[in-house]
Formats: sequence, C-alpha cells, structure tokens
Amino acid sequence: MRVLGIETSCDETGVAVYDSELGLLGDALYSQVEMHTEYGGVVPELASRDHIRKLLPLIREVMTESGLVLADLDAVAYTAGPGLIGALMVGASTGRALALGLGIPAIGVHHMEGHLLAPMLEESPPSFPFVALLVSGGHTQLVRVDGIGEYKLLGESLDDAAGEAFDKAAKMLGLEYPGGPLIAKLAEQGDRTRFRFPRPMTDRPGLDFSFSGLKTFTLNTAQSCRDAEGVIDPQTMADIAAAFEEAVVDTLAIKCRRALRETGLKQLIIAGGVSANRRLREKLAETVSVEKASLYYARPRFCTDNGAMIAYAGCQRLMAGQQSDLTILARPRWPM
Ligand code: KG4
Ligand code: ZN
Repeated sequence: MRVLGIETSCDETGVAVYDSELGLLGDALYSQVEMHTEYGGVVPELASRDHIRKLLPLIREVMTESGLVLADLDAVAYTAGPGLIGALMVGASTGRALALGLGIPAIGVHHMEGHLLAPMLEESPPSFPFVALLVSGGHTQLVRVDGIGEYKLLGESLDDAAGEAFDKAAKMLGLEYPGGPLIAKLAEQGDRTRFRFPRPMTDRPGLDFSFSGLKTFTLNTAQSCRDAEGVIDPQTMADIAAAFEEAVVDTLAIKCRRALRETGLKQLIIAGGVSANRRLREKLAETVSVEKASLYYARPRFCTDNGAMIAYAGCQRLMAGQQSDLTILARPRWPM
C-alpha cells in the first residue's frame, strides 16, 4: 500500500510517500520558522496562509522524488489534529479532496500518534509492547504502547510541555523562537553544576510531570545574574542554559526509569521535537543500560514535525482496515 502523508498542524509543511513494502519513497519538508521568529512565536493566520502556498508544490516535489504519479497512490493520510485549526484545515481539506478526486480512501491521523510511531521508520525499530516518552512543544506524555491504537496513558504534564518549557526559558534568556535547539546549543558551552535547578515532582510517586516552575526558576536565576546594565555575561548564560537543560532531562529520565520498572517493559522509545535533544539521548542511554533495556528514537528530521510520520501512521491504520468518511476532519484538541 502506497500512502501520501500530509502534515500541516503547526509551522512545518510536511509531505511524504510511504510504501508498506518498500518504506519511505519520498519526503519533503518546508519549515516556516524564519517567518515566525520575527514575532517570537507561531502566528496562526500566517501559518495557514503559508501552508496554502507550500502544500501543492511540496506534493509535486514528493511525487517526482518518488518516481510516481498521483494515480499510483492507494490512500491519503493527513494530520487531523491536535493543532492550529486554520493550519489543520489546509492539510485536511487538500488531503480529503485529493483522495476524493482519485477515488481512494483518506484517513485523518492523530499528530501525536505520528510522532509516537516515527521511530518505526528507522532501521532496527522496536517491537510492541514498549514505553514511549512523547516530548513535543504541546505534549509531554508517558504511554504504554501495546500495538497500533493500543495506547495507555501512564503520565503527562500537568502544566507546560517540555518543549514549551524550553521555548519559554529561551525567551527569558533573550533567545529567539523556537528556543529548544538554541538552549541545547548554548548548554554545550555551559557548566552543568554551577546552578542547581529543581527536578519537579520526582520526590513523590507517580509518572506525571510539571515544568512551569522551572520557567520561574530560570527567570529568577537570570535576574540575579544581571549586572548594573541588566546584562548577563555569555558564560553565565551558557551555565543557566545547561542547568535548565539538565533539570528537564534529569526529570524526564527519572520518570522513564520509573515507567520501565512499573511496566516491566524493556524497550523505551522517545519521540517529538525534544527527542532530538542530544543530552536527553545521552541521559536515557545511561538509564536504559542500568535497566537492561533498549532505547529507540528517530533521526532528528523525524523528531520534529514531518510528513513521513503521518504517511507511516496512516498506512498502519489503513492496513488495519480503518479509514475516515468524507468529513474533513480537523480537531484543534483531540486526546490520543
Ligand atoms: O514535535 P514538534 O516539532 O512540534 C510539536 O508537535 O509541538 O516539537 C517542537 C518542540 C519545540 O518546543 C522545540 O523547542 C523543541 O521541540 N525542540 C527541542 C530541540 N529541538 C526541538 N528542545 C530541546 N532540544 C532540542 N534539540
Ligand atoms: Zn509535533
């Protein structure tokens, strides 16, 4: 089965073709990040308009890369939510209309299921069941995964998502949007031990998270380090970034270890934008080695939003006999 995947839930336009026999045939991605940086965050109306501009050229590009014509497709998968409603509508209406025109099925895919399954696109994927840590800009969840569509929520953030905390902490340090990768880069030059940030909710049982306190901690630390002109010296900036990153990563690792112990499972996958973080990968590699478990993640391009994960997730659902009706599905909020 050959599936065209379309992702337009936020600020990346992603299109890909996944073949259930041959794997990924083509994958194109356009990031709007530069356009939104000027405003310090994603501007929903600008995002929708840009998806409209980019989607059809990207579909053409992917068809050429795959050596296919539209008539070779067996189905279309599009992100149906959660996300920005206007942005979702672009991918949903285009995907639905294309499928209708071609006389093939369409399926609305849950964006987080896409992220969750992205590591399956890599060479030695995990096999079910496994524990998944989903860490993106909008979600932080620990999930027990027994199969496609068999997801049990083990814990989640009660306030900010991990990626959101990275972005907000970055803003407080005067860094641009999106701040996650910038904090990570700055942290490489930092001393991780100079400041000690809290590890929220790790001193009590349970698998939930809370990251909003770290934001305040970052702000207070930054304020206390400003000189008379309000400037923080570059080394101190790097030290704060390193302490913040260490606190988030440590907290995530503590909860992952707990989840592995509580479920007795020996495979951990990490997915979503923050799973691209090098320090998180390093720390979790240590965790799984102590637990005699294995760690899986996607290549950095498939950690953040992309069309390949939607094509893959859609293909799995379609092969299990599911498809969406003629409704153009777009749900800004949608539990997985
Ligand atoms: O999964 P994603 O692309 O979009 C959502 O579904 O939200 O995740 C984006 C988030 C942003 O908050 C971004 O700052 C964060 O992932 N992120 C990172 C890194 N790369 C992206 N956070 C920390 N370290 C990184 N290397
Ligand atoms: Zn995402």
